[in-house]
Order: sequence, then C-alpha cells, then structure tokens
Amino acid sequence: MVTAFKDEPITNHFLDHNSQQQNEQILQINHLEIFYGEKRAVNGITLDIEKNAVTALIGPSGCGKSTFLRSINRMNDLIPGARAKGEIIYEDLNILSEDINVVALRKEIGMVFQKPNPFPKSIYENITHALKFAGIKKKSELDVIVEESLQKAALWDEVKDRLHKSALSLSGGQQQRLCIARTIAMKPTVMLLDEPSSALDPISNAKVEDLIVDLKKDYSIIIVTHNMQQASRISDKTAFFLSGDLIEYDATEKIFTNPSVKKTEEYISGRFG
Ligand SMILES: Nc1ncnc2c1ncn2[C@@H]1O[C@H](COP(=O)(O)OP(=O)(O)O)[C@@H](O)[C@H]1O
Ligand SMILES: [Mg+2]
Repeated sequence: MVTAFKDEPITNHFLDHNSQQQNEQILQINHLEIFYGEKRAVNGITLDIEKNAVTALIGPSGCGKSTFLRSINRMNDLIPGARAKGEIIYEDLNILSEDINVVALRKEIGMVFQKPNPFPKSIYENITHALKFAGIKKKSELDVIVEESLQKAALWDEVKDRLHKSALSLSGGQQQRLCIARTIAMKPTVMLLDEPSSALDPISNAKVEDLIVDLKKDYSIIIVTHNMQQASRISDKTAFFLSGDLIEYDATEKIFTNPSVKKTEEYISGRFG
C-alpha cells in the first residue's frame, strides 16, 4: 500500500503550497535607493509586493512615494539626473538592470497618473494607439481588445455608443477610467497608480475605487494615495513612507487599527503631514 504512493508528494506539501499561494509575491524590492543628482529621495527600502493585492503607499508630501512608484517601471529614467541603486526583482530579473527592455517592461508594469491624460483623439484610438504600435493592426482584433478593456475599466456601458468621439468630451472620472482601460489593453501584470482619483469628484472617485478593488483579481496594484480613508477602504497592504524611509509596512487593517510604530500612529491620526 505505502509503496504505491512513494513517488507522489505528501498531502501536506500541497496544503502548504496552497496556503502560501495567497501571499505570492510579484515584486521583491531590495535596498532600493533613488537619487536626484546628489540628493537621495529614497533611502534604501526593502519590501515585497503581493500578487493580486492592492498595496497602498501613504505618507506626507515629498516623502518619496511617487519616486518609488516610478522606479518600478523605470519612469525615472526620463528625469535627467535621476538614478537608482539596489534591486527590484520581477520574474527573476532586476528591473533596474541596464539591459532591461523598458518598452516591454512598461507594457507589463503599466502606470496611471494623478491627472487623467488621454490623448486628444477618439476613445477608440486612445486604446488602440499603443496596440497598433505593438503590431496589432487587424480591426476585428482591435475591436475585441477595445471592448474588453473598457468593460474591465467599468466604462463600456457609458461609451459604447460614442467610441469615435473625442476622449476629451468625457468627464474627468471617465477620462481616468479610459486611462486605466488604456493600461489594461496592454495586458499588464502590475498597475501603478499615482493618486489616480485625487483630481476627481466624489462620485467618480467612488467609481475608480470600486474599479481598483475589482481589478485586483487580474492584476497586482500599487497605489499612492494621500487619502487615508481611501487607503483603508481599498488596500490589503499599506506602506508608510516618511522622508524617504519606509517606516512601517503591514496589513492595512493592522496599520490603521494597531500600528507598531509611533510615527505611523501619529500620521494616520492626523497629527502631522
Ligand atoms: N524630478 C525631480 N527632480 C529633483 N527632485 C525631485 C524630483 N521629483 C521629486 N523630487 C524630490 O524627491 C523627493 C520625493 O518626492 P516625491 O517622490 O515626488 O514625493 P511624494 O510623491 O511622496 O510627494 C522630494 O524631496 C522631491 O522634492
Ligand atoms: Mg507624489
């Protein structure tokens, strides 16, 4: 009886594996330092980002949240004098290596900015622009991706009858969901959102928040927010930054109900920042 099973893994192995899968990591950040010229804006940060979760980055203005976020898809490369040290490991590669193809990287790790920035083109073209550039030219194929992306961004029903109207005719909240749809169309694995709803009215903000929670089924999301309620509503993990340091990183509920570090408690209770 026993020998019949000798080549099979023991049951416990599967159990362990499954329980760990919930906390699978998509990014491992090791001793990340980021400089603008001589000035260091991120002071050697180490943290793992969970797959299919929403990770919120909080902290007062100027503490390095955007700098940190931009390093993950190498957007800081566009800033003269900016440089990074350390490692950001994604699929066994260090994103910071010189030989990384940043165009390919930015498809897998997409970014949405604070101010909605659709191109002054039609809704349809906003989504297909980068796809055409990537070599997808067949209309039938593009049509499918446009619909899928807009569906996932919870915008399809609002725009399906006016896909060829200007994106600039949309409201701010719709424009931001279009920018999210544009990112989704590239089939990313990670989405970086830098205060994506801070320029929106409360109703649009609520829609974008619902969307983010929904999207984590398919993507790993890192969101910068200065809005503490937003972080506590939508994120699974929260990282608190202060002056370029990572002060505390834990489950969002823990950070907001029982933080381990006094500075975190002072910040979330509104005593500074
Ligand atoms: N393009 C830049 N050139 C020089 N310094 C910058 C640049 N962007 C940000 N910084 C500096 O880096 C620090 C962190 O900024 P930032 O990442 O924008 O913070 P946050 O997003 O938390 O408000 C600040 O001191 C800021 O002045
Ligand atoms: Mg910022």
